[in-house]
Amino acid sequence: MNIRSLPTTLRGQLRPRVATRWKGPWICNSCRMQSPSKASFSSSRRVLEKPYYVTSPIFYVNAAPHVGHLYTMVLTDILKRWQVLRGKKAILCTGTDEHGMKIQQAAAKAKIPPKEFCDATSQTFLNLAERVNLSYDHFVRTTDEDHKEAVQYFWFVLKTKGYIYESKHEGWYCVSDETYYPESTIEKRVDPVTGQTFMASQETGKEVEWSSESNYHFRLSAFKDRLLEFYKENPEFVVPATRMSDVVNQVSAGLEDLSISRPIERLSWGVRVPDDSSQTIYVWLDALINYITKAGYPWAPGSETVGGWPADVQVIGKDIVRFHCIYWPAFLLALDIPPPKQILAHAHWTLGNQKMAKSTGNVVNPIFAMDRFGVDVMRYYLAHDGGIKNDSDYGNHLIVERYKKGLQGGIGNLVSRITRPKIWSVRKAVEAARDGTLLREGPWPQKQAAMLRDLARLVNLKMEQLDSGAALQLIMDAVYETNKFLQYSAPWQLAKTQDMRPAGPTFPEEVDMNQLRIERTVYHSSEAIRIVGILLQPFMPTKAAQLLDMVGVDESRRTFEDAQLDADFTYGIPKVPVGGGPFDSLFPPLPVEK
Ligand code: MSP
Repeated sequence: MNIRSLPTTLRGQLRPRVATRWKGPWICNSCRMQSPSKASFSSSRRVLEKPYYVTSPIFYVNAAPHVGHLYTMVLTDILKRWQVLRGKKAILCTGTDEHGMKIQQAAAKAKIPPKEFCDATSQTFLNLAERVNLSYDHFVRTTDEDHKEAVQYFWFVLKTKGYIYESKHEGWYCVSDETYYPESTIEKRVDPVTGQTFMASQETGKEVEWSSESNYHFRLSAFKDRLLEFYKENPEFVVPATRMSDVVNQVSAGLEDLSISRPIERLSWGVRVPDDSSQTIYVWLDALINYITKAGYPWAPGSETVGGWPADVQVIGKDIVRFHCIYWPAFLLALDIPPPKQILAHAHWTLGNQKMAKSTGNVVNPIFAMDRFGVDVMRYYLAHDGGIKNDSDYGNHLIVERYKKGLQGGIGNLVSRITRPKIWSVRKAVEAARDGTLLREGPWPQKQAAMLRDLARLVNLKMEQLDSGAALQLIMDAVYETNKFLQYSAPWQLAKTQDMRPAGPTFPEEVDMNQLRIERTVYHSSEAIRIVGILLQPFMPTKAAQLLDMVGVDESRRTFEDAQLDADFTYGIPKVPVGGGPFDSLFPPLPVEK
């Protein structure tokens, strides 16, 4: 491609956005022609520290968000907050996918100019992100100018490197899935409502239409070996492992070149091909680039990793594995940009055992769900019950069940049993532990202590495996175990009974053994509350903060390192009311139950 054929306006716009050392409006033509990869990833230069980078998929704006979208958001947020808890700088990117046929048609149907249409629905996803307490650093919109520039630059480098060619393309295009399907995967279906027949993808059941046009192609077929080599070197690139094998099998079976543009008469709502204004860039190429746009692409040399790239983990749903695990690494490898380190491809939420999907209207409104059950309760439910390998069926009764068992009966009960009674004091028990006067003997307390010593490490292990559901389960097991320990030790009984002094000279007459046993139980239970509270912060940020306030943990002592037995002797005086009456203040009865 001759760079001079780029429109002047574009040449001025295409410019690296991270503190560039280049002078002038744009790199000179000769340099650009020699090495477009100058703005690509270089590992030889001195690099600044790379933050942990996690991304969510960007959401189509053709309809309002549903609980499936909320799930993806929650998973990314837990992953990001976990890293922050571990003391790392972490970046989370989310946003909206606004171009393509699907949006063009939805806007036309609504009789609203596409940009206005996108503004309105993008806002609903932004509202959702705010409402669920998503700790996002970037909310990217593919209609943002910086993104469009990044896409055009990316295209330009692909083209310059010879990975794009023009040819006629014929095939079955699915607007709903924004992809072509091979002839062998198409079948005739009958609409049960109208009785009309239509051609559909076997995989998704969505309608496809025959299209025959001249457009640009990406040499995906040339990447088969490089991709297979990449997967071999990175066997955990896709999590879970079953999806990794599916991807390897798919690539091993061979890849066809990919159509990556559409004539403007068909698709006008998108980013224009840099040197051919008669073509619009394929929405998936446009959309995938969002992940590097906000990481600062095109990078000035030396600053490639400052914005977080390569992403540590990209969270997606299982329906978009092909785009993220085959196309995306191929595009990046073509430009010598390192692919993301891992892709977490989760399963779906179903409703009545049918996929929750806006196209069918079989959805739960996430805002209504949070209004009804609370933000952190929904975060808990989605993380606890949400599937990674297998789909999960959504149910209000299940949320109520989890609430009663885990939150009210588990955490809430534990906290009120320890913080409310006037017959002991958490602070005094902590002081006894600090001063070394705490009774340490007994198999139950030792088992409890061992569990608390291991908990943070084991939870971290699960988080490193990107299994936040299993991590949450471990935390909850600690809650249930502590409740059993408390039940067995029954400090409220000890306070009422005679001192049961063991025979022998170990304990002098004047020591109140029951008092020591009470303090031991209260301390080990308080430690469980403190450690669980710290580890729960990424999952339920508001409730965990309230819990830690109730046992008086200082805000500076809520890090991962603090989540260890005997790591903090400064707490024990509540910072907030601990509640009264029959219900605890942390998890009161749900409004629906009252
Ligand atoms: N715009 C594309 C993604 C582009 S990323 C460069 C897209 N958008 S989407 O709005 O259809 O889906 C966004 C995410 O929500 C996807 O990860 C998808 O898997 C997820 N979910 C959509 N329905 C879902 C469920 N029923 N359950 C769980 N996640 C679901 O695809």
